Amino acid sequence: MSLAQRVAEAADLVTVALDELLPRAEGPEQRLTEAMRYAALGPGKRLRTFFAIETGRMFDLEDRPVLRAACALECIQAYSLIHDDLPCMDDDDMRRGRPTVHKAYDEATAVLAGDALQTVAFEILADPDTHHDGNVRADMVLKLAQAAGARGMCGGQMIDMLGVRDDLGAVARMQRLKTGALIAVSFELPLIIAHAGEAERHALMGFAQDIGLAYQIVDDLLDAEGDSAAMGKKAGKDAERGKANYVTLLGAQAARERLAVLKEQTKAHLEPFGPRADFLRASVDFVLDRQS
Ligand code: IPE
Ligand code: IPE
Ligand code: MG
Ligand code: MG
Ligand code: MG
Repeated sequence: MSLAQRVAEAADLVTVALDELLPRAEGPEQRLTEAMRYAALGPGKRLRTFFAIETGRMFDLEDRPVLRAACALECIQAYSLIHDDLPCMDDDDMRRGRPTVHKAYDEATAVLAGDALQTVAFEILADPDTHHDGNVRADMVLKLAQAAGARGMCGGQMIDMLGVRDDLGAVARMQRLKTGALIAVSFELPLIIAHAGEAERHALMGFAQDIGLAYQIVDDLLDAEGDSAAMGKKAGKDAERGKANYVTLLGAQAARERLAVLKEQTKAHLEPFGPRADFLRASVDFVLDRQS
């Protein structure tokens, strides 16, 4: 199977699983469950799912616990994007090629859909159907909560909203929190299921940190130079809003150079895994050469 097929297969698997796991309601709260499904089942790249599934394969894990962990990751991702797009945050109208949730529904529904997607994520992880061992479930809940909260994604979003000034160190820290934490936990959840040893954990966390950073630099480059139609979200908004990021701070050329160095550095973390990590290794170029 080619890498592109593996990425597409992971995306299909998680979308089908989410369709089953996300609530459906009758009555007035149906509006909420529809908005949740609209956001979470939309055409995302499902990168975090791909990372979790590939890590699971590296450790020969059973499919089901890993796929359910991926569903939890995608619920947090969908919630973070709904809230990121709200008028009080980035005020965006398009996401994944379609109107954002507050445009398709309304702001109150969007806030609630984000809230409820967040709780679904933890409901899935805590469910005994995800894993028979309560310690494994509790550890996954803890790690996802830490990645999504004030010392993770939410904290990074706060820094983004406050705006950082000409300080690359501060931008790097913001990235580690707002994007890096959720990407890192995509590797961490399968590592928990695998009861992986410290050396393997350390190597994969190094990989996660670098690919997360590179991923955000690509996002910033695409915002500056990408095509809105291909990306399914509006380009050019970071400069317009005066956001500090790698491209607004360093310029596109220097950001690209940094990315090239980072790509090789990222792959080097996988050395201890040998051929077991071939698909993850190949995914570095695939993920970072993206145009959308
Ligand atoms: C967008 O994430 C926000 C960032 C963290 C850069 P993705 O680019 O992974 O968005 P989807 O999930 O594929 O839509
Ligand atoms: C958002 O970063 C990261 C999140 C935690 C959602 P951006 O604001 O750059 O993401 P896009 O460009 O809107 O997808
Ligand atoms: Mg934002
Ligand atoms: Mg945004
Ligand atoms: Mg962006």
